[in-house]
Amino acid sequence: MIQQVGNKNIRKDLDHKSDQSFLIKFYKENGCFPQFKQVLIETRTDCNNHCPFCPHAFNKKELGIMDWNTYCKIIDELCAIGYNGRVALMLSNEPLLEDRLVDMIRYAKNKSQRLFMDITTNGRLLTVEMVDQLFANGLDNINVNDYRGDREKNPYKLSGKLQEIYEAYNNNPKITFQYRSLNEQLPNYGGNIPQEESNEDLGFCNFPFRKLVFSYKGDILLCCSDFMYATNFGNIHERSIIECWNDSSFDKIRLSLLEGKRISLCSKCNDYQDYNTF
Ligand SMILES: C[S@@+](CC[C@H](N)C(=O)[O-])C[C@H]1O[C@@H](n2cnc3c(N)ncnc32)[C@H](O)[C@@H]1O
Ligand code: SF4
Ligand code: SF4
Repeated sequence: MIQQVGNKNIRKDLDHKSDQSFLIKFYKENGCFPQFKQVLIETRTDCNNHCPFCPHAFNKKELGIMDWNTYCKIIDELCAIGYNGRVALMLSNEPLLEDRLVDMIRYAKNKSQRLFMDITTNGRLLTVEMVDQLFANGLDNINVNDYRGDREKNPYKLSGKLQEIYEAYNNNPKITFQYRSLNEQLPNYGGNIPQEESNEDLGFCNFPFRKLVFSYKGDILLCCSDFMYATNFGNIHERSIIECWNDSSFDKIRLSLLEGKRISLCSKCNDYQDYNTF
């Protein structure tokens, strides 16, 4: 059974046991967990939209902008350790508000062609010319979430300039459009959205086993759901990425998740990462 909740295909029938067994075995043999497979960087904190299911609707977040030096240090260190996976230039914010976006992509791609540069955007500021420019400077993927209040009436309508972009790029797999609704029911984002508690078994969350998350200050956070910076496993200017990733307090949260328990930020969270999300 696949239950569609927002943009998430939550596979209730998916057996995560083999992944958990692999992680437990790996930890026993190596004294640490496998290296991350994806990196998310909060280059700034704000958004130009007002989705009712997003933590921005419930929390006042000061504007934060990542220093250029912090961004470069992250990219340099990722390249130095041979990282070759996805680098998403956003967290819980709108990446097209970042006026250094093209420079950031170009910097990363000049350092290593092996990085897969990616953004997920609400598309409100996107134009055909901007998509051309982002791809010309090395962006590998754009995921556009077109949120509409009238989605139920218009399942495949695209907003503003998105239809023009869709037509210009309709056979190009580097850009995808999600027909999203502002009426979606989504999880509580690490308790950052008030929701009634439920006794439902939430299942295993594999987020902190595969994604490395940087705040705009260069701190390493538990996951995307840490909207208000409740966790911190070290800063890029003070410790190596690998040291932060293998921090004992980070492992403690991971080991709890593997035991089916939720501690720290996870104790407030009703989300879990499924294996289909990119
Ligand atoms: C926070 S957004 C940031 C990128 C961009 N602003 C956008 O909305 O596409 C990243 C993803 O988180 C999703 N999201 C928003 N609120 C959520 C919630 N309460 N629980 C889970 N995911 C959520 C968004 O729909 C989007 O797919
Ligand atoms: S889901 Fe994305 S577009 Fe909507 S308010 Fe949150 S960050 Fe902004
Ligand atoms: S359970 Fe929630 S807070 Fe914990 S790692 Fe998963 S998404 Fe993050």
